[in-house]
Amino acid sequence: MSFAFDRRIKIAPSILSADFANFGAECRAIEAEGADWVHVDVMDGHFVPNITFGPATCAAIRPHIKGVMDVHLMIAPVDPYIEAFAAAGADVITAHAEAGPHVHRTLQAIRNAGAKAGLALNPGTGLDGVENLLDMVDLICVMTVNPGFGGQKFIHSQVDKIRRLRALIGERPIHIEIDGGVTPETAPLVAAAGADVLVAGSAVFKGGSVGDPAPYGANIRAIRAAAEASLG
Ligand code: DX5
Ligand code: ZN
Repeated sequence: MSFAFDRRIKIAPSILSADFANFGAECRAIEAEGADWVHVDVMDGHFVPNITFGPATCAAIRPHIKGVMDVHLMIAPVDPYIEAFAAAGADVITAHAEAGPHVHRTLQAIRNAGAKAGLALNPGTGLDGVENLLDMVDLICVMTVNPGFGGQKFIHSQVDKIRRLRALIGERPIHIEIDGGVTPETAPLVAAAGADVLVAGSAVFKGGSVGDPAPYGANIRAIRAAAEASLG
């Protein structure tokens, strides 16, 4: 799908915290409950110390997602797999700056494959190289945990990085996405600093599952309300 750029707050639940035996139903449920994007965490057991799934799973869940499928690749190397994730229907493909020496080439390859290009920055990565990539990216993902697992504690030192990134971006149509430890308590901090896409795994999926009365709608609304309140 194609989607227009805007800076409104978007909530992107991460299916890393969903029921892995029920991805189709989980994706339908979070969209019905107000999710803007569906965030898909791909891990390889090499770039990060955890393994999730690959392009075949993305292709299988694609028909269950009406909106944006936002694929976060925590894999190295990245380039050999970009075509496969694009063919699986990813709207946004985000690669890590730390995943290899040729991130410029990677971003080029993502756009050439027909997807929006995202650049993810680990908490230990600064903004030094980002300026040279601003015309290559549609989204920059600031990791507010070290990637690999859901349910980790938000790293507060990243808030100032978000603020500096927002200033660097200026009027360019580039989303700032935040990934890790987003809750109704931390969402206002990142929204006020300039983020517009808030990934949340455990804070959306906590308290139930699709079989039970799922609290996803209330969880999503709580994060969105807290973020929007910080914008005045
Ligand atoms: C972490 C993943 C995140 C993760 C966030 O490596 O990229 O998307 O699912 O989970 P929470 O919201 O639980 O911190
Ligand atoms: Zn992620």
